[in-house]
Amino acid sequence: MESSVADAGRTARTGHGQEGRPGGFRLGSEQHKALFCRMLLDTFDPYKPAVIDWPTLDPDARARLVSLPIWDIAVQTEGKARLRVVTYGETVSDPLLKEAIALNGFEEGRHKDVLANMVRAYGIELAEEPPYVKPRDAEWAFMVTGYSECIDSFFAFGLFELAKRSGYFPSDLVDTFEPVMQEEGRHILFFVNWVAWHKRNMPWWRRPWFALKVLGVWAFLIWERIGIARGIGGAPDADNSFTVTGSKSVGVEISTGELMDLCLAENDRRLAGYDPRLRRPNVVPRLVRFARRFMARPKTVELGSTAHRDLFCQHFKATYQHYEPEKLPWPELDEAALARLRGVPFWQEVLHTELRAGAIVKQFTETVDDPVLKEAIALQGFEEARHAELIRVMIKRYGIDVQEHALDPLPADITTAFKDFGFGECVDSFLGFGVFKIAHEAGFLPDSMFAIFETLMYEETRHIVFFVNWMAYNEARRGRASAWRRGLTSLRYYYRALKRLVGTARRGAQQNDGKEFSATQASVFLEGFTFRRFLENCYGENARRMKEFDEGLLRPSFLPKLADVALSSLRLWSFRRNPA
Ligand SMILES: [Fe+2]
Ligand SMILES: [Fe+2]
Ligand SMILES: [Fe+2]
Ligand SMILES: [Fe+2]
Repeated sequence: MESSVADAGRTARTGHGQEGRPGGFRLGSEQHKALFCRMLLDTFDPYKPAVIDWPTLDPDARARLVSLPIWDIAVQTEGKARLRVVTYGETVSDPLLKEAIALNGFEEGRHKDVLANMVRAYGIELAEEPPYVKPRDAEWAFMVTGYSECIDSFFAFGLFELAKRSGYFPSDLVDTFEPVMQEEGRHILFFVNWVAWHKRNMPWWRRPWFALKVLGVWAFLIWERIGIARGIGGAPDADNSFTVTGSKSVGVEISTGELMDLCLAENDRRLAGYDPRLRRPNVVPRLVRFARRFMARPKTVELGSTAHRDLFCQHFKATYQHYEPEKLPWPELDEAALARLRGVPFWQEVLHTELRAGAIVKQFTETVDDPVLKEAIALQGFEEARHAELIRVMIKRYGIDVQEHALDPLPADITTAFKDFGFGECVDSFLGFGVFKIAHEAGFLPDSMFAIFETLMYEETRHIVFFVNWMAYNEARRGRASAWRRGLTSLRYYYRALKRLVGTARRGAQQNDGKEFSATQASVFLEGFTFRRFLENCYGENARRMKEFDEGLLRPSFLPKLADVALSSLRLWSFRRNPA
């Protein structure tokens, strides 16, 4: 029993069962070395660059190829790589490793030949190659080449796939480079395993030095790439950053996030076929996955397009739920619950808000020309009026003390009123999500009552998702699709909404004078209430509720982002105070 658990553990670590290897598999072992060397040697593809049949290109395709700024740097990089790999190979005494590294060097030279032949076939003029200088520190040079292949191959995998999909180059030409791509995949796999093996097979006193060297190589490569990106790398090297900036060059408009996803997927695909026990290059994929979290998710629709309009309008219609407030399963409440419900100080405000919402949306609907938008907005107006009706039913049924006042006349500028109302809903809903969760958890009212409120919350969530998409659609139609411009507009409206909210809270405090929502009624709700907990609930509930909506739709992001920042600071602050 015990041994089978140990086996399972080993299998999980190595991705390999027993298969007559009772000793198991260890990084740095002879077996490891044999594995990564054989991987390279046994998958060798004996093609000859000289016999590649370069497809005839039409003038456009040829012009595109010639205009790519990468040919000089590509040829020179392969030339340098060959010399560096071969030079390091000469210092290695282990015969199997020596053979594998020699093959790696041979393949780099062959890459250079493939490129040079192609360039010649299409009449591209190359700059004169600089003399290739044998490196003094062979190990350092081998590592610089190895790690820069880890970076470049990762991005090249994605760009290559992109070029293939876009049809920017004829597929015959793309196919010619397939072996080069796959070879780079083998090279980086070989290289990272060599690093893992090598550092475990050196005397202990060299290891810290080697670790520093690895850091040094990365620092050098990052410095080199930043320098190139800023254009201070000098003209001849100016296209070293092609792999990072190259998506435009292959003729496709793609967001950085989408390109990163493609690179990650291609990286996994290309390295998937090799022995699972081998270490995978993971630094670049991990960094990219980390950076990916801060990039926008791929947009399936272009903001402001008809497809966008149809998506958010259809989604809104499709998620409509039919009910009649009178016929909802209103529960019987006991005296204590009834007192708590009646004690809530904001029913007056809620009823008024819903009545006004219904009126604003209804009047705004009249001004909308687009039939698809008109139908959806009319539906929202109907739902707002139904919210008011739901609150009315509740007030009557449970004897809540609320007077219904006539509405103030609506503003003349109904479009601005609609926008103000929409941003106001975004604020109210976000805060409402938190209040609702805390009240529910505290058992402020029976679950059956919360089930009814839930209907309302879900509709408000639909409203704000609809609203932010409508807003972005409108802005985009006016040529203001960029995120920063939309952000500025939203900021202005959010500021107004928050100001109104503060005003309402002040007025409410004066009117109620704190007496109705008395300590006894509030205690159950407010027990253990902290600002941080409230914010966490708003944030968490918002995320949970928004998850249900179609990926392609925008969601309100201002308050969630703000809450995220506030929560991070609060956590940091409490960590500093109690650093346990
Ligand atoms: Fe290469
Ligand atoms: Fe390579
Ligand atoms: Fe509403
Ligand atoms: Fe609403």
